[in-house]
Amino acid sequence: MTEEIARIPKYYDVKGRLLELTKSLAPGSPLPPERTLAVLFETSRTTVRQALAELVVEGRLLRIQGKGTFVAQPKVAQVLQLTSYTGDLRTVGLNPDTKILDISYITADEALGHRLAIRPGGRVLRIHRLRLANGEPMSIDTTHLSARRFPGLRKQLETNPSSLYDTLHNAYDVRLSEAEEVIETILATPYDAQLLGVDVGLPMLLLSRHAFDADGHPVEWAQSLYRGDRYKFVTRLRRPG
Ligand code: GLP
Repeated sequence: MTEEIARIPKYYDVKGRLLELTKSLAPGSPLPPERTLAVLFETSRTTVRQALAELVVEGRLLRIQGKGTFVAQPKVAQVLQLTSYTGDLRTVGLNPDTKILDISYITADEALGHRLAIRPGGRVLRIHRLRLANGEPMSIDTTHLSARRFPGLRKQLETNPSSLYDTLHNAYDVRLSEAEEVIETILATPYDAQLLGVDVGLPMLLLSRHAFDADGHPVEWAQSLYRGDRYKFVTRLRRPG
């Protein structure tokens, strides 16, 4: 047992102590400089730097080039429900914003056709959007819907990109009532990193949603990539049976 503990790398112990320190400070507070932390934890600056770097990736600390390291804002605690990005953010008191990256028609292959219950070769509207909270990029949504079922949707969203679900409800009288959602981890590509203003390789959460209307018809097949340093997902579990 003693041997096991002895093998724990030094930076890991420093990381734990740094985490305790961050918990005692308010979000936005600056951390003491690396050299001060090295003296405090009786270790090298390299070790302190390694511990700080991991806490940045985990979203506990925020590094601002040329300014220093600060205690990060708490992550957005997203309850897993069939709700919209816009609605979710308003619920937690943040201001949602949307930037359309691309909105175009594509041709359904077999898999996408199956997901949207249209024939392969059918037209699909693909909506690629950057989602922001209080001006900060948070996630990238790529949504697919049947072009035939939602004529004019492209125009509607180009005019008002804020909420797809509100548009489906207001303009097409479609309400989503059920969805299957799969959550996986993925690392930020250079493309994701540039859009979201994060480092390449940051752990991200990829949520794939297959959503259905009240009649059980598939409406949406979407993939949403959320920043792993800014999001956590919450659900209430009930014992089956
Ligand atoms: C979330 C879901 C997406 C969905 C979107 C709709 O981001 N992961 O699958 O398309 O909400 O949000 P809004 O109505 O704000 O466009």
